[in-house]
Amino acid sequence: MSKQFDVIVIGGGPGGYIAAIRAAQLGFNTACIDEWKNGKGGPAPGGTCTNVGCIPSKALLQSSEFFDHAGHAFGDHGIGLKDLSIDVAKMVARKDAVVKQNNDGILYLLKKNKVTFFHGRGSFVKAVDGGYEIAVAGAANESLTGKQVIVATGSSARAMPGVPFDEDRVLSNDGALRIGAVPKKLGLIGSGVIGLEMGSVWRRLGADVTVLEALPTFLGAADQQIAKEAHKAFTKQGLKIELGVKVGDIKAGKKGVTVAYTNAKGEAQELAVDKLIVSIGRVPNTTGLNAEAVGLAIDERGAIVVDGDCRTNLPGVWAVGDVVRGPMLAHKAEEEGVAVAERIAGQHGHVNFDTIPWVIYTSPEIAWVGKTEQQLQAEGRAYKAGTFPFMANGRARALGDTTGMVKMIADAATDEILGVHIVGPMASELIAEAVVAMEFKASAEDIARICHAHPSLSESTKEAALAVDKRTLNF
Ligand code: FAD
Ligand code: NAI
Repeated sequence: MSKQFDVIVIGGGPGGYIAAIRAAQLGFNTACIDEWKNGKGGPAPGGTCTNVGCIPSKALLQSSEFFDHAGHAFGDHGIGLKDLSIDVAKMVARKDAVVKQNNDGILYLLKKNKVTFFHGRGSFVKAVDGGYEIAVAGAANESLTGKQVIVATGSSARAMPGVPFDEDRVLSNDGALRIGAVPKKLGLIGSGVIGLEMGSVWRRLGADVTVLEALPTFLGAADQQIAKEAHKAFTKQGLKIELGVKVGDIKAGKKGVTVAYTNAKGEAQELAVDKLIVSIGRVPNTTGLNAEAVGLAIDERGAIVVDGDCRTNLPGVWAVGDVVRGPMLAHKAEEEGVAVAERIAGQHGHVNFDTIPWVIYTSPEIAWVGKTEQQLQAEGRAYKAGTFPFMANGRARALGDTTGMVKMIADAATDEILGVHIVGPMASELIAEAVVAMEFKASAEDIARICHAHPSLSESTKEAALAVDKRTLNF
């Protein structure tokens, strides 16, 4: 006998578990199916984000940053340390404990909100009268029927053609978060978000890190003034980033990995490393869903086809997060999950794709929201830009972290903020003010007139707003 639900969510990552909680809050009898297993084979909801993404990467970034500060910054504060060392096994165990806290937290939240959780793989069986039959293959096989189905199956790392991940020498984000000892030489393919974050972790711990990037431009999606500043800082730290390369043969053996490539000048090169992280983007997870059984449309990239409201081609079937178009970010997945649950309830769920912030948790951090100067130039839109360097901010000087700047871009005629771009300390937190400002369609002058606490890094955002009108007070 099939178990009946109003809403069935397939996938328990940030898109799925949040959609399930919101659906349950709205009074729907909701099920959430997730197949991720912890080390003991038990459930580990939270998806890529919790298990091998956002959370564990930030745990390792924090540990490695403390180590880096202890080795390089503490001395300036008069703090002396003898015999500084890193216990990688302990660092990784701490990261695993942080992941488990999050897994347990999600299981608790699902229970608290009366979402029925199923541990196993969910797949479509057939359309039935007023809904869909979904099979769960797990410790216990189940048959469920849902009036509405939300697919939130996420994404997986893309491998280089013909070079599968062995997670020992050739690593995806999964293996990159479980390296047991600092490699002497580490290679990364792709200087995107994972390349920079993971490269930073192991560089800080002492690895000799080389990143090979196909594109000639560094961080093409970011504002190029910010990207240049970040590139300068990373290079100074010792991260070797080669742009405009063409990667050829990759050979993984017992001793290490060799990567043949052509550099930007067209010269043949070889990189020999102990471990290689491949971070060249991610592919949507749709295999195993049995989408063909119900005729769910999937595009040529493997993503489920949805409209702006996350409706698929099938009535009552929705899809959110990494498995659909748009940026592969946890907060984007969450917003879509909430909006879909609200739409199912007949409400007006809303996601503003123009104000989704991006954050890269390196040191300096990089964060932005809205348009870059390059995008505005391409659109032919008249704008004014103002920047304020952290070098001129009292709090940044006290922190001993003065790299970078806040840049604000506003419409030339209306002064409406069109984009805010930050490279520097706590950019991940500072960007929230810019998101709020843009959601409320604030002008640069609005921010310039708001009282910001002193001394704080956020004063740099106010000063960047003043800089739009060429009237900074502290620079
Ligand atoms: P996922 O988190 O991938 O979850 C999908 C879940 O569905 C998984 O648990 C999967 O096992 C399960 N599943 C798949 N198919 C089935 C099935 N048929 N049946 C049952 N279960 C199934 N984003 C940020 O915003 N900030 C960050 O700092 C950040 N850091 C990252 C660091 C790394 C190393 C990586 C790899 C990613 C990072 N991301 C970050 C991206 C973020 O992890 C994803 O955008 C986010 O997890 C997408 O959420 P989702 O719910 O769509 O999918
Ligand atoms: P990415 O899309 O950020 O970067 C991939 C990079 O690899 C690009 O610069 C691309 O030009 C390059 N590339 C592609 N093919 C190549 C090749 N054959 N040779 C050399 N370079 C090549 O993808 P990444 O880093 O794998 O991350 C995947 C996604 O995960 C990100 O786009 C982001 O959505 C998410 N993520 C978010 C984080 C955050 O929000 N802080 C952290 C980590 C990941």
